[in-house]
Amino acid sequence: MAPALTEHLSRAAASQAAAALAVASLGAAILARGKASLLVSGGSTPVEMFERLASAPLDWSCVTVGLVDERWVAPDHPDSNERLVRAHLLQGPARAAAFVAMKTPEDNPAAAAADRSAAYAPHCSPADFVLLGMGKDGHTASWFPGNPALAQLVSPPDGACVAAVEAPGATVPQRMTLTVPAVNSARRGVLLIFGAAKRAVFEAAAMADPLQCPVRYAMDGMGNRLAIHWAP
Ligand code: 6PG
Repeated sequence: MAPALTEHLSRAAASQAAAALAVASLGAAILARGKASLLVSGGSTPVEMFERLASAPLDWSCVTVGLVDERWVAPDHPDSNERLVRAHLLQGPARAAAFVAMKTPEDNPAAAAADRSAAYAPHCSPADFVLLGMGKDGHTASWFPGNPALAQLVSPPDGACVAAVEAPGATVPQRMTLTVPAVNSARRGVLLIFGAAKRAVFEAAAMADPLQCPVRYAMDGMGNRLAIHWAP
């Protein structure tokens, strides 16, 4: 049985609902602990949610923003998730937030994994809110179906919260990603998906082998801490 999905009439409404969940979580974290961590995915889905979230009246100086995953390209490259976040989320009031990059000057993510794991650890223990997307192949973060790295991402041998991944079929094969425990420990999160094809993948995910539909790891690991929001 797939977890409950909230259906919206428009992508604007779904984006607004996802942004509202993030604002509530971040505001509660700031009230309770004086700080908040927000870890977000890239891709095309989150743009409107980012823009709505960026204008929220939060004390953004208490917020640290990080990535769920990153393509190993320069931060000004069109495929960079950091570029996407700086362009659409770290704007307006949200410019006051701190940002922890995943991309470093290293030639490849494997050379930077330990350093980025150390940099992300304070913000994944646990993160206050994570935004996940999903590909039509059932991946989330950079957890790709059938990828040999999945076992290490599910049970990182050194407890790392960030790991390097080679994903041959992905937009930019060299990736850095949060591990499964790093995502699943988040206090709250939202999986934001658009379109009929992704709806079908989501509905089938509950019966799928997580190795072939890795979004299952987040669904199973977060349970009702992960809200699912969908629009056509
Ligand atoms: C990435 C993302 C990835 C994304 C899905 C959905 O770096 O590609 O973090 O996990 O959430 O691929 O991407 P779209 O929103 O573009 O469909």
